[in-house]
Amino acid sequence: MSFTQFKPVKTRVQRSTLAVPGSNPAMFEKAMKSDADVIFLDLEDAVAPNDKVPARENIIKALNEMPWREHGKTMSVRINGLDTHWMYRDVVDVVEQAGEKLDLILIPKVGVPADVYMVEAMVAQIREGKGIANPIGLEALIETALGMANVEAIAAARNLETLHFGVADFAASRRSRTVVIGGLNPDYPGDQWHAAIDRMVTSCRAYGLRAVDGPFGDFSSPEDFVKAAKRAAVLGCEGKWAIHPSQIALANDVFSPPPAEVDRARRILVALEEAAAQGKGAASLDGRMIDAASARMAQNVVTVADAIEAKGKAGAKAA
Ligand code: GLV
Ligand code: MG
Repeated sequence: MSFTQFKPVKTRVQRSTLAVPGSNPAMFEKAMKSDADVIFLDLEDAVAPNDKVPARENIIKALNEMPWREHGKTMSVRINGLDTHWMYRDVVDVVEQAGEKLDLILIPKVGVPADVYMVEAMVAQIREGKGIANPIGLEALIETALGMANVEAIAAARNLETLHFGVADFAASRRSRTVVIGGLNPDYPGDQWHAAIDRMVTSCRAYGLRAVDGPFGDFSSPEDFVKAAKRAAVLGCEGKWAIHPSQIALANDVFSPPPAEVDRARRILVALEEAAAQGKGAASLDGRMIDAASARMAQNVVTVADAIEAKGKAGAKAA
């Protein structure tokens, strides 16, 4: 290992991130009772300009009055972009009035590390000024050509927990030819999003962040959602957005390590402990060589499985 290391900033279960427009409070109750791990209440693109202010009020009220945490929900709010005049009030009003109930702020269209820095500074000032003890983490949406060009530098920003890949805006920003949000264009021989997701995941892991894949627009095709989610999971993403309630269970399933994989990971750790006790660095399991790198991969699986199990137990207790 390098002498420079960035530990995971925070372990949270984030298999599914449900997008809920702040302008539609009728959807809040169902979202809270859903199986989504993380919910982001949206102030940005799902909310029309005339609805921005009432949506902010809806979100503040819902964070304060609804028992999201008792339902095991990690709560995020997607603020408006730094290029809009709504953004500063989103941060000021939501954090001042509901900061104790908020886990994360999702910053859209991040282009440079200073975009994160500005929100970090605002949140720090408001928390101090208002005596808000609750820590609030930051998430950045990488969804512009500028954001992807700077993704390594953005990932190093303080207080960030997650990078999300926003495929819809990314396609628009890059002028990629898409057929469906997050889907594949048959003119391309393979996965046209591979390079972008891959680059974002590497940047995340270098700095201890979670990597989350964004939306898949065709909610009438669970098969294609699952294929997209699996492609992201293989590359190292921890979860994916759900833009429709039907996608929550699919995401939770794809991003939960299967029991056979968890079992094998635990057996790898035991076999290597036994080998170490005999002074050996490598061992064999089921006819395959395993060594310290296998232990690191196995530990990743076990950490995720343990976190999911702990979340399940906490949810069962609350119910
Ligand atoms: C999400 O915001 C996206 O643009 O895909
Ligand atoms: Mg977007």
